[in-house]
Amino acid sequence: MDQNKRSRAEAWLRYADDLGLGPYYRDRAALQPAEQSSSGAPPEISAPAPNSSPTLAGAAPRRAPEPSRAQRPAPAPVFIPPATGASLFEERIEGDTLDRVRADIGPNCTRCKLHKARTNIVFGVGNPKAHLVFVGEGPGRDEDEQGEPFVGRAGKLLTQMIEAMGLRRQDVYICNVVKCRPPENRLPEKDEIATCSPFLLRQLGVIQPKVICCLGSCSAQTMLNTNQGISRFRGEWFDYRGSKLIATYHPAYLLRNPAAKGEVWKDLQKVMAVLGLEPKRKPPST
Ligand code: URA
Repeated sequence: MDQNKRSRAEAWLRYADDLGLGPYYRDRAALQPAEQSSSGAPPEISAPAPNSSPTLAGAAPRRAPEPSRAQRPAPAPVFIPPATGASLFEERIEGDTLDRVRADIGPNCTRCKLHKARTNIVFGVGNPKAHLVFVGEGPGRDEDEQGEPFVGRAGKLLTQMIEAMGLRRQDVYICNVVKCRPPENRLPEKDEIATCSPFLLRQLGVIQPKVICCLGSCSAQTMLNTNQGISRFRGEWFDYRGSKLIATYHPAYLLRNPAAKGEVWKDLQKVMAVLGLEPKRKPPST
């Protein structure tokens, strides 16, 4: 192939990657359930534009779906526009810091309707250089009151999980897709996620953790830009802009379904293997 044709072909492949079509042109068969489990190869995703997310493609159905907090239809996948020039993979805000992200949100953000009922913006907490970031859905009542993520019942369970991994809460970073409490603990809506998630992506861009662990469907679907149920890709590894990303069930789901703790512990053990951690104590019992 001459150089000109080769460059055009490469540009199309990059474009397809950016659209999340990579697995289709690479090897459809590799993404079929049987091959996937025998090879252990995860489905692939593309990296996001700065204000959007990677796209999940080809995750295989494996388990019963996790019930959502409300039976709402999942958001439709966002179409990522074609890259012009440099690949979308490379874009980050030069010199960004968590303080800048917080300052850009501002003390009185009114960008979406969630501001109307919130008490505190819940930005995120923990080690700004954490190797592990947990991403939840959005603050609940306790978090809204205290301005800190995961401090209610689900948060206490998350803390136990973190400690069972041999870490302390202050070793990791904990944040949410939306920074203000959805009324009555409903799921964040599409426009709220679209408005707030760029700040989450900037937080992750600053921290650049080794591992991002998405807690629950909202977080996983936002980060992977998919409307597939979490049970189809839970426990699989994805690449997210240089970090490894894994999704597991939300601690609030575990409070309702303690039998699923074993599945979550398996996912966390995969995280521990990547981070080279030994468990310090028994995981929260079922
Ligand atoms: N659930 C979440 O998703 N985030 C919190 O901060 C608390 C509960």
